[in-house]
Amino acid sequence: MERSTGNKINTAVFISGRGSNLKSLIAFSIKKKSPIRIKLVISNNKKAKGLNYIKNYKLNKFIVNYSNIKKAENNILKKLKKSKIEFICLAGFMKILSSNFIKRFNNPILNIHPSLLPKYKGLNTHLRVINNNETFTGATVHLVTEKLDSGKIILQKKVKVFKNDDEKNLSKRVLKAEHQLYPKAIIKFLN
Ligand code: GRF
Repeated sequence: MERSTGNKINTAVFISGRGSNLKSLIAFSIKKKSPIRIKLVISNNKKAKGLNYIKNYKLNKFIVNYSNIKKAENNILKKLKKSKIEFICLAGFMKILSSNFIKRFNNPILNIHPSLLPKYKGLNTHLRVINNNETFTGATVHLVTEKLDSGKIILQKKVKVFKNDDEKNLSKRVLKAEHQLYPKAIIKFLN
């Protein structure tokens, strides 16, 4: 991938809620070794807690009204173009990007998913992992394609499941792994 000015890639992070991965990506992006510069945070939810993390940084936010998907995606694409965004990281973004959007953006889009893909695509991964008595789960960073949670895997991190784990414990442990994994996956993918 070609590097923009200052040698860092102009990046947008898409969120919908808590934003703990956004927080870890911001901390990563300001390090010298980071290949990305987060310029823009996009959310479909104006009340997303994660939006609080951008206040101390020179980050623009863009709130998108998703009542009409086509219009929402057109507005996002316009904003991405205006901000010269070349790379997208989805971090808990609860909307599915259409194949039309992916084609028109025409640059890589990564996502983080809280399971060892291809196992446990979709929602409620931790509960399903516990109910199936898995001994390991984890997190995956993958390329976004039109098929949900199915694009090329960039990097994974395994997490042990303990016998007495409930959804809360396990999701906490996996989330910690996610915060380490996403920056590493970005370095692997872009360097
Ligand atoms: C994470 O578990 C991520 O893997 C999934 O959604 C959750 C987002 O958490 N896609 P946060 O908003 O980054 O705290």
